[in-house]
Amino acid sequence: MMIPMGELLAKAKKEGYGVAAPNVFNRETIEACFLAAKKLRAPIILDVAAVHGIYECADIARYYEKQYPEVPFALNLDHGGAYEDIVKAIHAGFSSVMIDRSTCAYEKNVEEVKEIVKIAHAVGTSVEAELGHVGQGAEYEETRDAGLTKLEEALKYVEETGVDCLAVAVGTSHGVYKGEPHLEFELLDHLSKEVPVPLVLHGGSGTGDENLAKAVRTGIQKVNLNTDVSEAGKQALREALASTEVHGSGKDEFTPKKMNLQQTIAAGVAGFQAELEHYMKLFGSENRW
Ligand code: 13P
Repeated sequence: MMIPMGELLAKAKKEGYGVAAPNVFNRETIEACFLAAKKLRAPIILDVAAVHGIYECADIARYYEKQYPEVPFALNLDHGGAYEDIVKAIHAGFSSVMIDRSTCAYEKNVEEVKEIVKIAHAVGTSVEAELGHVGQGAEYEETRDAGLTKLEEALKYVEETGVDCLAVAVGTSHGVYKGEPHLEFELLDHLSKEVPVPLVLHGGSGTGDENLAKAVRTGIQKVNLNTDVSEAGKQALREALASTEVHGSGKDEFTPKKMNLQQTIAAGVAGFQAELEHYMKLFGSENRW
């Protein structure tokens, strides 16, 4: 069942676990999320970037919702940029939208987020926004410290905007890190104890299991994952392409039937799903429904 992301994360905060939020972009990746969630009885958040098709992904998610009505999930617009895309996602029935104004000045960030909160809440859609800035891994060493979330500002921001969850910058970055990831657990601990809404960690990939498990224990409820699940899928795809394994039977023993395109893609998506299941277990979201 699709539920507002705020609701899904409030339960995670109360019970002390994290929800995996992989980036999905087509039928196969969305189906893999439902299969993983059903297998582990874990909630899941489908993070969709506007570029991958807002209406298309909403329709696919609705299709799988009918196949697996027992799976609690949220459908979230990831890094919402253009106003039109955010409104489109609300119109398409997303149960959450992220509006990312993390590179704007504080006042502009508040002003634009508040407007989206008003529209989204009118139809029961949750809103995620970011304060501080989670940058790109390639620039990690230069940008990490400048972007960290400030506690006092975060408290004011949540109060002023009315967001349902807050993406915080506590030392992660998107994609592959240049240098070692170094997380500010003390800052996260203060944020988690004082900020009244659930917290989101962007840039989960490459952060390391130990860091991520500790981040969840310290108070993160949503972990965004793109690069790691994508790379795991690519690796499985490469192995499938290189495989000489025979599937089914050819017309005789001298003409074995190779994996066709559909089977090869399925093998890649199985790699994506296995990595996702690993993270669901790591975040303690197994057996939560
Ligand atoms: P990673 O690619 O580092 O996992 O980041 C994903 C993300 O934060 C999407 O919003």
